[in-house]
Amino acid sequence: MSLTPRAPCGTLRVEQAGQSVDVYGWVHRRRDLGGLIFIDLRDRSGIVQVKFDPVHAQAHATAGELRPESVIRVHGPVVKRPAGTENKELATGAVEIDADAVDILNRAQPPPFNVNEDGVVDEQLRLRYRYLDLRRQRMARNLQLRHRMAKAIRDFLDDEGFVEIETPVLIRSTPEGARDYLVPSRLKAGHVYALAQSPQLYKQLLMVAGMDRYFQIVRCYRDEDQRADRQPEFTQLDLEMSFVAEDDVLDVVERCFAHVWKQVLGAVVPTPIRRITHADAILRYGVDKPDLRYGLEIQELSSIFAGTEFKIFRQALDAGGVVRGLRIPKAIGGKEIDALTEAARGDGAKGLAFWHREAEAWRSPITKFFNERELAALEQVTQAQPGEVVVAVADRAEVAAAALGSVRKLAARSLGLINEGTFEFVWVTEFPLFERSKETGGVTAAHHPFTAPRPEDVPLLASEPMRVRARAYDLVLNGTELGSGSIRIHDPEMQQRVFSGLGMAPEDAERRFGFLLDAFRYGAPPHGGFAYGLDRVVMLAAGEETIREVIAFPKNQQAEEVMTDAPAPVDAKQLRELGLELVRPPVKQGR
Ligand code: AMO
Ligand code: AMP
Repeated sequence: MSLTPRAPCGTLRVEQAGQSVDVYGWVHRRRDLGGLIFIDLRDRSGIVQVKFDPVHAQAHATAGELRPESVIRVHGPVVKRPAGTENKELATGAVEIDADAVDILNRAQPPPFNVNEDGVVDEQLRLRYRYLDLRRQRMARNLQLRHRMAKAIRDFLDDEGFVEIETPVLIRSTPEGARDYLVPSRLKAGHVYALAQSPQLYKQLLMVAGMDRYFQIVRCYRDEDQRADRQPEFTQLDLEMSFVAEDDVLDVVERCFAHVWKQVLGAVVPTPIRRITHADAILRYGVDKPDLRYGLEIQELSSIFAGTEFKIFRQALDAGGVVRGLRIPKAIGGKEIDALTEAARGDGAKGLAFWHREAEAWRSPITKFFNERELAALEQVTQAQPGEVVVAVADRAEVAAAALGSVRKLAARSLGLINEGTFEFVWVTEFPLFERSKETGGVTAAHHPFTAPRPEDVPLLASEPMRVRARAYDLVLNGTELGSGSIRIHDPEMQQRVFSGLGMAPEDAERRFGFLLDAFRYGAPPHGGFAYGLDRVVMLAAGEETIREVIAFPKNQQAEEVMTDAPAPVDAKQLRELGLELVRPPVKQGR
């Protein structure tokens, strides 16, 4: 092999003009100009143009038969491109390589889709040939961005005195809210591990162990229905700290984000990040993860209509419900109102009332049901200007909030009210400790059962548990939940009280969480922490719409890895060893 240095394609600049280099990479594009042949050569660092002059007869002849995606080595001097032929779009656009030798290291078949453009390709096809998909510039950029973000996180936390510690993946099933992936044990027949949904209990035990400040960039596993921002295996930045209260955890997380944004994106995250209580978020934005890139705040209109004779509002208010509304700062027509009404119905609202604000009056099919005083108050409270529209929902508070939350989101998106390109971080604090399960109606932990109640709400644990607020917080960016955390319970008795609030009998709690209660009996420090989804953070930083775009080998919407075809049936022998018998034989599926 030659001693010429290997130069990454994307790094060559005028400063290297005159140097001979070896470049290795994939044929991105070939242009035959009769005499001269130009090859765009690509590796993960970028693209450089290679010129083949007939003067170098052998190299020129080889270049003539090069096909896209073949792997080659090129040797030759870096030269400045002739004036007027520079390519400003390309980082290497001021130079080219004047090839005097070329080796074909591997010939490629025509790829199933064009690798040399970032155009739209069917996602199943991309996933099936992921190694080709990852050659595309956008994907190569995303993976490198992810690496740089992870590195910036590690550097920051290391400087802050955090220790990265690995925790087990094969664990006892613990409740984290989602369904577990189960792994049957061969050695202990009939027993099953769960893949960790998060390191939650282990990181708390590390605090009991005196590790003080722990973090981990860790794979977590959850058997959930797939969405744009959910994968069965995903990565968390997980951290835990001892001797802290909410402010300490929030402060570290904020500074970590600010550091990463500055290092990697060269952007500023203004700190401190604003905070809003959960109750306030629901009231003003209808959701617990508000998108603050736009205003469109929900307004309480109940008092305006306290004496109303409009039947729909009357019934809702008499049943203890509310009337809440939203001012839409644009003139919209019937079609848009229908779409917003659909959105409201999707969240259980029975309809959406609306009024068009005109210069002198309100125009609406229901105006006739309201008196002068009500309509004047509506104008005063909403501050609606001529040409704008006010919409309202009358229902139970939860329904009105959720429905208007969806209306707000849809209106912002469809009317172009979102300030794109901005990052609006917000902390949502004081979540309730408990919530009702949508499926069973039973009481469940809103975050997880290890979250501490706020001290002033502890007396309510016995009498009005649903009103107890937790020392829990979420970090939200542009309407997406990035992460959650809380100050934990570190007192065995309090932990027992919360378990029993969740309907767990003391024996049951001892059986399932005896190790934790024991640990708390041997001197557990006060502690708290946080975890955020690294995939989601990278997705937002990369400007992507799904986390699949920032994961090297993601699963598809059916949780399949289509390239290797996982999950797949296994041999009868493997099942026998695990003492398993299939109730349903695997369905044969073609590709
Ligand atoms: P939580 O369950 O809220 O908290 O998870 C933290 C963050 O992990 C990300 N996340 C996901 N990302 C992609 N695909 C998924 N299926 C998925 N599920 C969750 C989200 C989420 O905000 N142990 C606690 C944290 C703590 O209390 O310290 C926990 O796991 O961004
Ligand atoms: P209706 O009498 O059902 O035709 O409803 C009259 C208007 O009130 C329509 O614009 C409905 O969309 C709206 N509406 C119906 N139910 C509600 C509700 N619960 N809250 C707000 N508006 C409603």
